[in-house]
Amino acid sequence: MSANKPVKESTPSRLGNADYQWAQFDSEAYFQHYYGEPHPDDERVIRYAVEAMKHAPPIGAELDVVDVGTGPSLIPFFCALPRARQLTAWEHAEGNIAWLESELQRKEMRSQWSHFWSVTREAYLPDCRLPEDPMPLLRAKSVVRRGSIFDLPERTWDAATMFFCAESITERQDEFEAACAAYARCVKRGGALAAAFLAHSAGYVVKESRFPALSLSAESIISAFARHADGLKAEAIGIVERQVRSGYSGLVFLTGNAR
Ligand SMILES: C[S@@+](CC[C@H](N)C(=O)[O-])C[C@H]1O[C@@H](n2cnc3c(N)ncnc32)[C@H](O)[C@@H]1O
Repeated sequence: MSANKPVKESTPSRLGNADYQWAQFDSEAYFQHYYGEPHPDDERVIRYAVEAMKHAPPIGAELDVVDVGTGPSLIPFFCALPRARQLTAWEHAEGNIAWLESELQRKEMRSQWSHFWSVTREAYLPDCRLPEDPMPLLRAKSVVRRGSIFDLPERTWDAATMFFCAESITERQDEFEAACAAYARCVKRGGALAAAFLAHSAGYVVKESRFPALSLSAESIISAFARHADGLKAEAIGIVERQVRSGYSGLVFLTGNAR
């Protein structure tokens, strides 16, 4: 063997979705940390998502809408509820499924949901007048399903939302791109896509367990969707130097229509 044989530089391997302990994702701790005290960025995201849902084709029709990686949040359901015939939460972690199911059954909405629902209601004005309490309608229209983003069925829903999922479940670029492709393809051609992504994140901690994120910009998100959607727009929201919440220092909101 030659003494001069080049030594392969070892690149630190990046962890994928299956390397993380999603069963240890503490739903209540996540809810309290991220949504316990509403932040103005949440309200901006709601307004962007409502705008996208208002214009989701076919206009005037009720839509079957999926939210991917719903986690412990009702925000995506609120934004889509006024346009929805049915709302599906497509979530991977069992704990989040149980949390969502029990949250939907609560007799009284938590104060945070009342706040986010009032932002949603306002964003739908003047076109649409919505009830003060969305929960009966939400219970009637929603379905919670356990599934991975990588296993979404193709061309199934009229519109799809996704808040902090494809980039917040892996450190691997190839998995992020596969997740974006699966998300874009789960809606029928022309269907609306409305998704929020962490900007420039290095991962987040939920009750002492670390979870991944890919560091993204508006350009890298557009590029991941370029082959899968038309009319792409990416809006940067509240990007700052310091962290506002674990792993969060701003976001990019993407809209487009599945190709
Ligand atoms: C950062 S959290 C976002 C939660 C929520 N959508 C929000 O806006 O706060 C990432 C979510 O992705 C879910 N997740 C992890 N792996 C997934 C997979 N393979 N498919 C779908 N969801 C996944 C997690 O359980 C968690 O709910």
